[in-house]
Amino acid sequence: MSARREGGGGGDRPWWHGAVVYQIYPRSLCLADPAGRRERLHLAPGAPPDRVRDGAGDLEGIRHHLGHLAELGVDAVWLSPIFPSPMADFGYDVSDYCDVSPLFGDLAGFDRFLAEAHDHGIRVILDFVPNHTSDRHPWFLDARSSRTSEHRDWYIWRDPDPEDPSKPPNNWKRSFGEGPAWTFDERTGQWYLHLFLPEQPDLNWANPAVVEAMEEVLDFWLARGVDGFRIDVAHALGKPDGLPDLPADKAEMPYSALIDEPSTHPILKRLRAHIDRWPQQPVLVGEVFLIDASKVAPYYGDGDELHLAFNFVPMFTKWSARSFRRRIEEIDDFLVPIGAWPTWVLSSHDRSRHRTRLGGSERRARAAAVLSLAMRGTVFLYAGEELGLEDADVPPDRVVDPGGRDGCRAPIPWTCEPDHGWALAGSEPWLPWPPSPQTCNAGTEASDPGSVLALYRRLAACRRASEALRWGDLERLDAGEDDVLAFARHSRSGRGNETAVVLVNFAAETTRVGEAELPAAPGGWRVAVSSGGEGAANSEGSPFAETLGPEEAVVLLGARLTHD
Ligand code: NOJ
Repeated sequence: MSARREGGGGGDRPWWHGAVVYQIYPRSLCLADPAGRRERLHLAPGAPPDRVRDGAGDLEGIRHHLGHLAELGVDAVWLSPIFPSPMADFGYDVSDYCDVSPLFGDLAGFDRFLAEAHDHGIRVILDFVPNHTSDRHPWFLDARSSRTSEHRDWYIWRDPDPEDPSKPPNNWKRSFGEGPAWTFDERTGQWYLHLFLPEQPDLNWANPAVVEAMEEVLDFWLARGVDGFRIDVAHALGKPDGLPDLPADKAEMPYSALIDEPSTHPILKRLRAHIDRWPQQPVLVGEVFLIDASKVAPYYGDGDELHLAFNFVPMFTKWSARSFRRRIEEIDDFLVPIGAWPTWVLSSHDRSRHRTRLGGSERRARAAAVLSLAMRGTVFLYAGEELGLEDADVPPDRVVDPGGRDGCRAPIPWTCEPDHGWALAGSEPWLPWPPSPQTCNAGTEASDPGSVLALYRRLAACRRASEALRWGDLERLDAGEDDVLAFARHSRSGRGNETAVVLVNFAAETTRVGEAELPAAPGGWRVAVSSGGEGAANSEGSPFAETLGPEEAVVLLGARLTHD
């Protein structure tokens, strides 16, 4: 373990407080070892090529780029599922929780990756998909083999209605496609529940055998040294008694975006107590897809449930100071009072990248980067956002995802060469490249101090060096301009008192912000980071210009004040 990891969160803080976590979608990061893959898959030399298989990334590709992540300054990576899977939902349909898919590598390769990540001071968080398995998981194969099989009650089954056997047991809708959340199993004559695809049957968490089996899964990976888990649809584990119909006004929405059952909380508390016994201080970060801070807050429990819950609301927020002000108020209203540590997420593998969503402008994407990396909380970056990537344009014949999310999953370009650093030998990657890969790639951007990558590196370094930015409280400020979002971050520690001020100009015009509107800083405010770009008014290292360029965002630091 490197010194940086032992350093943890500083003082009594857990390591994830203020951390920057980098999400990797393993199919999309990089391909390094296509020959190893063909061997693991036992493909004959003349086996016909398959773009979605052969053009996907692998664990070796991720390992090769750990240096990039260390230079970027991330504290941890979260890997979307790497487990064996028929890939109906590209890995979120797990057929073996305790192995690595031969598409990506093997357990020995994973151990090598983990050790190297730790050597770089980077922790590793795995995706834990407990709500459902693949329909090809041995548990489900056994469950559907007969009504009396050992694993039958590991899933959720209902008899058909004798009056109308073609009618599903209730009106819940699944995610992806328009259909019901139920599929009829001809062989055993009952319906099974699946909040997602029919290939993703829901586990029955009311069955203690399921809980125990899943705790064993966590232990399997924790024993290998992983640093935590991202829990897929964490809010859906408990199902309502009797599985009642939804009221008609809600029935058209996928049930996975609505379910919010009290019975989920004891399950999550038990998982938390289970992992808390491990010495590496593993983190549990839950996907609570309820898009409402007041509904997400209870999933932190009384400090005994999720350590972190994703705050997805910013992904559904329009680009305006007023809207983002509201996002900060919600944290103050619902998380701060219960002592819950917030998170910030702008992009992920499930939604259009924020640059694309916010209109495609690089200037705006830069301002968004400053905003998210200066927030109080744990920040989740989605691989490629540090390059300013936009969604790929995916023509109909290249669409592969049942949820239509291909654009944000495009492969990451590493160099300006035609293969962009992927070992493709001239063949195509699993999805088309994102726009402008000749210039928007890690190699080209690394040598350009004005690039988006250079901005992310400076932001992460600034956050790491400043206790105020990493852990400090957040105070909302009024900068005297509606279009300028302003807040201060304050810390008090043995090193002294520190304040950082963050200003984001959402307007497309230059806007004045006088020092009189800011907290007093003896010696004045210095620009630590400016989002820069077209029309920027501030240069880093200089005194604050009291003006922000169009859509310019800045982090200002004053002199550190020692305790009196
Ligand atoms: C949420 C994941 O982020 C998404 O990619 C997946 O399709 C669903 N959960 C189902 O597992």
